[in-house]
Amino acid sequence: MTVHTTDASARTDALADILVKRGHLTSPRIRDALRAAPRHLFAPARGWYATDGPGPRYAIDRDRDPATWWDAVYANGSIVTQVDDGAGDPTLGVAEATSSLSSPGIVVAFLELLDVQPGDRILEVGTGTGWTAALLTALGADVTTVEVDAGLADTACQTLTMAGFTPLIVTGDGALGVPDRAPFDGVHVTCGVDRVPYAWVEQTRPGGRIVVPWMPEYGDGHQALLTVTGDGHAVGRLVDSANYMVLRAQRSTLYVPEHTAAAVETTTRLDPREVTASPGADVAITAALPDVMGAPRDRDGVVEVELADTAGTSWARVRQGEGEHRVWQAGPRRLWDEVASAYARWTEWGRPGREEFGLTVGPDRQVVWRDDPSNIISP
Ligand SMILES: C[S@@+](CC[C@H](N)C(=O)[O-])C[C@H]1O[C@@H](n2cnc3c(N)ncnc32)[C@H](O)[C@@H]1O
Repeated sequence: MTVHTTDASARTDALADILVKRGHLTSPRIRDALRAAPRHLFAPARGWYATDGPGPRYAIDRDRDPATWWDAVYANGSIVTQVDDGAGDPTLGVAEATSSLSSPGIVVAFLELLDVQPGDRILEVGTGTGWTAALLTALGADVTTVEVDAGLADTACQTLTMAGFTPLIVTGDGALGVPDRAPFDGVHVTCGVDRVPYAWVEQTRPGGRIVVPWMPEYGDGHQALLTVTGDGHAVGRLVDSANYMVLRAQRSTLYVPEHTAAAVETTTRLDPREVTASPGADVAITAALPDVMGAPRDRDGVVEVELADTAGTSWARVRQGEGEHRVWQAGPRRLWDEVASAYARWTEWGRPGREEFGLTVGPDRQVVWRDDPSNIISP
């Protein structure tokens, strides 16, 4: 139910009730933090609202249409505040989103995983609007937050000060952490990474937690909860889905040509929707093929899965048919065949779900495991 009032505390309570119902929010302390850091203080006057999951997406403007703006700010969706690193207009909803006020459901889910205690020293990576930093501060943490974009960091600093929060805001590359402020009790990452920077592990005390949107090249993104061990590793499981904008230095673009002239055409009985829409299959595939990018595309109701390797040598496209599906593969690698065999291995394992997989991050490499950290399934 939409609360038709500009009373922020009533709206916060209504939003919190939705988050409780959806299973994102259980902690009364986080509920109090939502009240202490009202979301509208951190929302841009103009932006692009996107419901969490499938649902409406539209421009919002506080001055032109305040009712829609208030409803969007207290709904479970993200609000894009910047596109193309500041070069475009977010209200057009077309360009690459590069900063946002994250969706309350995912912010709260990560806060629950981090389990912040009063006095904890927390590093946040990706300040954005400053809302997450405010929530962490409201939970009693001593917060250091890093933002790569100087303009966004300045705006967040002003917003946080006006809202009465004083975390330390650092402008720079969050992948390096903030060594001067280490050790941290926890790291809260609000941009996606394929490779977890080791600096975050090094700068967290043993037993401390790192919560991070793990966004490998292939398929969906995942909430990962890692715990730092005494021997300098971070180990933990995948929990649920998470889709964030990617850490600047780790951005990649999946490009598959429209023309199929250079490709070898075959057919497959493996439905392309299976290899991207089965939770857990995507983890098994990306674990086996960490350098393969892959995503489904909806083309007028027909699903196509596009694949390309990060080195740019090979690509594949698989178009959903009826029983038989058309496959085009080009370059020295047969990427669809590789994906299909990783998928077959996943089915032999009994189709394990996302939460049966985990990551270990060490000084030299990051690996994916199944069931137990000793059962490494990545190369
Ligand atoms: C989804 S937004 C963060 C949302 C934010 N936590 C909030 O509460 O509004 C992701 C942010 O990560 C920032 N970012 C991307 N790469 C970064 C990096 N290498 N270091 C620090 N911040 C980075 C982006 O500029 C963007 O502002």
